[in-house]
Amino acid sequence: MNYLVTGGSGFIGSHLVEHLLKNGHSVINIDNFDDFYDYKIKIKNTLESVGKTLEFSFHEKQLDIQKLIFETSIKDYQLYYQDIRNKEGLEKIFQKHKIDMVIHLAALAGVRPSIESPLEYAEVNIKGTMNLWELCKDFQIKKFINASSSSVYGNNEKTPFSEDDSVEHPISPYAATKKSGEILGHVYHHLYGIDMIHLRFFTVYGPRQRPDLAIHKFTKLISENKEIPFYGNGSTARDYTFIDDIIEGIHKSITHIESQNQVYEIINLGESQVINLNEMVETIENELEKKSIKKNLPLQPGDVEKTNANIQKAKTLIGYQPRTHFQNGIKKFVEWFLRNGS
Ligand SMILES: NC(=O)c1ccc[n+]([C@@H]2O[C@H](COP(=O)([O-])OP(=O)(O)OC[C@H]3O[C@@H](n4cnc5c(N)ncnc54)[C@H](O)[C@@H]3O)[C@@H](O)[C@H]2O)c1
Repeated sequence: MNYLVTGGSGFIGSHLVEHLLKNGHSVINIDNFDDFYDYKIKIKNTLESVGKTLEFSFHEKQLDIQKLIFETSIKDYQLYYQDIRNKEGLEKIFQKHKIDMVIHLAALAGVRPSIESPLEYAEVNIKGTMNLWELCKDFQIKKFINASSSSVYGNNEKTPFSEDDSVEHPISPYAATKKSGEILGHVYHHLYGIDMIHLRFFTVYGPRQRPDLAIHKFTKLISENKEIPFYGNGSTARDYTFIDDIIEGIHKSITHIESQNQVYEIINLGESQVINLNEMVETIENELEKKSIKKNLPLQPGDVEKTNANIQKAKTLIGYQPRTHFQNGIKKFVEWFLRNGS
């Protein structure tokens, strides 16, 4: 199969590309290497995802990405340095390739930064996503998997969070763009018969995790004996999901959407295991064999207090079965972190 993956040089995307290539598929990766975090990390992700181990000496972003495109020009893989906000640019790619399915992961993904630049988030996460649907409509591509987020639940009081809970009260622009994606996606499903699954990922972690996310940030700061920003009293909690379980969930969603017609589903992908901030920090401390130095700060606007996934639908509909206990996942993450020195 030919899969178009957007954001395939990011954290989750690079793992997905690796998985698809290992399973004998062809992948077209569209990524603009945006500056939300260092593009050099994305170059490394991309090389690893296609199994290249070469030493890459960095010069300047444009040149480095040209070199990367050359280095990764291998059978079954094509990288495009392309912004999803630019429909004409995307159209050329859709014209060139026969695409069986789009798996859309490209986004501006941070919660807190979305409060600073809400319009940019809307441009990428809503307009960029609609550009892809418009092209799916024009090119008769009928299968689409979209990355949504647990943040759509806002401060939902009922736990665990289920797909049929009301999500009318997002508390950050990021969350609102993700909910908009689910709603607009339904329009394209209804009008143009595009089968669609929106996956609500619950805080994903593991090797290659984004450096802005708490587990990665704290691991780095603790390992360097620096203060960690500790928001609230440590009781905020997350359903952390290990990257391998997320990739398994995407894999099972692909199988489901390929084998069915008239699909429109919203599915939680979590671990169904809630870890509070105190436990998260302690687990990292134990793996690093170092104590943290905490700088106590108030809770941040836009941050939800707790996430907790009800994954019953994922289990029954697609056969999702997450396997990674938090302690094991953190062990794997810290091992990766220490090997990579990042
Ligand atoms: N990591 C998590 O915990 C988490 C949780 C919920 C949802 N998600 C969603 O999963 C998806 C992947 O997240 P991630 O953590 O891998 O993030 P990431 O930032 O590592 O990956 C996103 C990729 O999209 C690319 N991108 C951004 N803007 C683009 C644009 N305008 N055009 C083309 N490419 C663009 C980036 O360069 C990056 O490589 C996102 O949609 C995110 O919202 C992630």
